[in-house]
Amino acid sequence: MSDNRKNIGPYDYIEHFRINTALMVTMDKDGKLNVMALDWKKMEEREGKPVIRAQVAYTRYTYTLLTEGINEFTINIPSDKIYHAVDIAGSYSGRNTDKFQKAGLEAIPGQKIKIPTIKDCILNYECKIVKDSKSNMSSHHYFYGEILAAYASNDIINK
Ligand SMILES: Cc1cc2nc3c(=O)[nH]c(=O)nc-3n(C[C@H](O)[C@H](O)[C@H](O)COP(=O)(O)O)c2cc1C
Repeated sequence: MSDNRKNIGPYDYIEHFRINTALMVTMDKDGKLNVMALDWKKMEEREGKPVIRAQVAYTRYTYTLLTEGINEFTINIPSDKIYHAVDIAGSYSGRNTDKFQKAGLEAIPGQKIKIPTIKDCILNYECKIVKDSKSNMSSHHYFYGEILAAYASNDIINK
């Protein structure tokens, strides 16, 4: 397997998922990728299945892609090597910037879904959207993605 990583169970190494900002990757119907910084995320269980709940504001291009593009996303916890990507993913919009290119990110093809994960991360998750709902708390929308594949880098596995 590429990128010095291994398949893991969805809940393994969850402490790294909880405390770090994620890079959320989405895709339009033509296969063009976007990446956004995501802090508001939670791992939970729905009907016995592991899901990641992502809270995305209506104004984000990511919201448009999640609702009008491909019905999937990946969640990627960056290693220090690509940490600069968080600033880029969180301060430009995919409407007018190719953030993958700008941040120099490399994609790893999905094992279970169309959307790739990102190279040089400590954790990656491939998720298929199973539900979405309006948040009454804020101007954000909840997207629930069932985790179909999860990976951890050898750097955290061997620690
Ligand atoms: C550290 C950090 C965390 C963020 N977390 C979230 C989040 O959880 N939900 C959200 O909607 N926006 C969040 N943002 C803002 C988006 O990443 C930002 O608006 C981004 O430019 C949206 O890109 P897009 O228009 O390509 O979707 C965060 C930004 C930063 C810098």
